[in-house]
Amino acid sequence: MENLKEQEIIAMPRIGEKAPAFQAVTTQGPINFPEDYTGSWVILFSHPADFTPVCTSEFMTFATMEKQFNEANCKLVGLSVDGLYSHIAWLRTIKEKIEYRGMKNVEVTFPLIEDITMEVAKKYGMIQPGESNTKAVRAVFFIDPKGVIRAVIYYPLSLGRNFDELYRALIAMQAADAFSIATPADWRPGDEVIVPTAGSCGVAKERMENKAEMTCYDWFFCTKPLSREQVEKVILKK
Ligand code: BEZ
Repeated sequence: MENLKEQEIIAMPRIGEKAPAFQAVTTQGPINFPEDYTGSWVILFSHPADFTPVCTSEFMTFATMEKQFNEANCKLVGLSVDGLYSHIAWLRTIKEKIEYRGMKNVEVTFPLIEDITMEVAKKYGMIQPGESNTKAVRAVFFIDPKGVIRAVIYYPLSLGRNFDELYRALIAMQAADAFSIATPADWRPGDEVIVPTAGSCGVAKERMENKAEMTCYDWFFCTKPLSREQVEKVILKK
């Protein structure tokens, strides 16, 4: 803790803010973040350490799902406070030696940032001293195509992430943008979506025009159908 200045530790980028910029070395070459990702969604996520079991299970899962995220216009970028050669050796071990839950020969092709100085981890509030002074917690930042932070999730060291939930959250945010709706608890594509609360003429007008297909539970809580096909057409360009 002594080597970390307090203002560095408490930096915690928030929803709606521009993603803090940085340049870094990664397993896929240098990156200029978030500029290199303009026009795409990006999930910037940290893990505590290379060559650890929870992180290995996470990397194998995320790498296996990478194509699915890419098809939703989302790129993945990992980070830990380990060095580049550790990252390279760990990813090689994963590919060559680890078979886990039916996943084997898994190649991690998304960039993994080396952050031995913790410069990036500190900018993104990934060092949380109550959990660890020397390792990043499991942070997940969803950053939109304009470089704005749209969602943040932090997990403790011992808790492996649910990557289906990360994908669900990504698609839900994209659907909210594309269709001007909100999504209810546990929403999945094909489920009904929430019509914005009345308060503007536009919303009120839409309510009049689409009354037949809306279900209202009370004046402040109305839903309407949004088919899985519509979501896939707009978001996955299917
Ligand atoms: C793990 O990935 O297994 C792990 C890493 C740091 C602390 C605890 C678990």
